[in-house]
Amino acid sequence: MSKKTNRLILAAPNSSGAESYMALRTNLAFAGKGEPVKTLLIAGATEGCGKSTVALNLGHFAAAGGKSVVLIDGDMRKLALTRHFDCAKYPGLSMALTSQGLSTSPLRPTTTPRLWILPSGPIPPSSANLLASPNTGRLIQSLAEAYDLVIVDSPPVLAVADASILATLVDGIIVVADAKHSKRRDVRRAVDMLLKVHGNVLGLVVNQATGSAARFQYTSYGI
Ligand SMILES: Nc1ncnc2c1ncn2[C@@H]1O[C@H](COP(=O)(O)OP(=O)(O)OP(=O)(O)O)[C@@H](O)[C@H]1O
Ligand SMILES: [Mg+2]
Repeated sequence: MSKKTNRLILAAPNSSGAESYMALRTNLAFAGKGEPVKTLLIAGATEGCGKSTVALNLGHFAAAGGKSVVLIDGDMRKLALTRHFDCAKYPGLSMALTSQGLSTSPLRPTTTPRLWILPSGPIPPSSANLLASPNTGRLIQSLAEAYDLVIVDSPPVLAVADASILATLVDGIIVVADAKHSKRRDVRRAVDMLLKVHGNVLGLVVNQATGSAARFQYTSYGI
């Protein structure tokens, strides 16, 4: 079974993963203190904990629930979402953020109704410098005005500054941890870093949970 198929198992109706995503989708609707969460960062302490998988599946579930959703491939080194949808990475996020802007929309439709992808774009010399431009906030806001939900994938919080920069530009942050491999100390450090930049950490998604989610002390949704 391909990795792609594996990921979509989580989106299969009746699986426990599907139930968790539906619960997460519902909880998000109430997480914004009266205001809907329209822009959401998917963050995680370290590599491979499931950030892109959660971004992807939540995007699918939110679109299936009737929302218009944009997935932003904010990991310009790995470009996991861009690869998943097998779409051209150009012009994408990195080109949309350059001062010239773009004459046409960099969004690509996907085969899922109401789900769009903003691919990563060409790998910039420093993605953190690029994301630190005021254009990033403007882009996310303009997408939030046109679509119901904007989900931003990101590289590991403890590795590069990208997620901490993006954290300041979104309504809420979901932190993903892997039930078996993430170290609690790392997850805590990542959450602390996101809180330090005044990021609105909504909760923790424990990926690949099989009952061990309780060892994480933040509000968790086991997936
Ligand atoms: N719940 C899951 N069920 C099955 N496979 C999963 C699950 N979560 C993650 N994976 C697999 O684990 C690998 C890492 O997941 P993913 O790419 O989502 O992590 P990541 O945190 O985005 O990693 P990176 O930091 O490298 O971007 C992928 O091959 C993915 O398909
Ligand atoms: Mg990823």
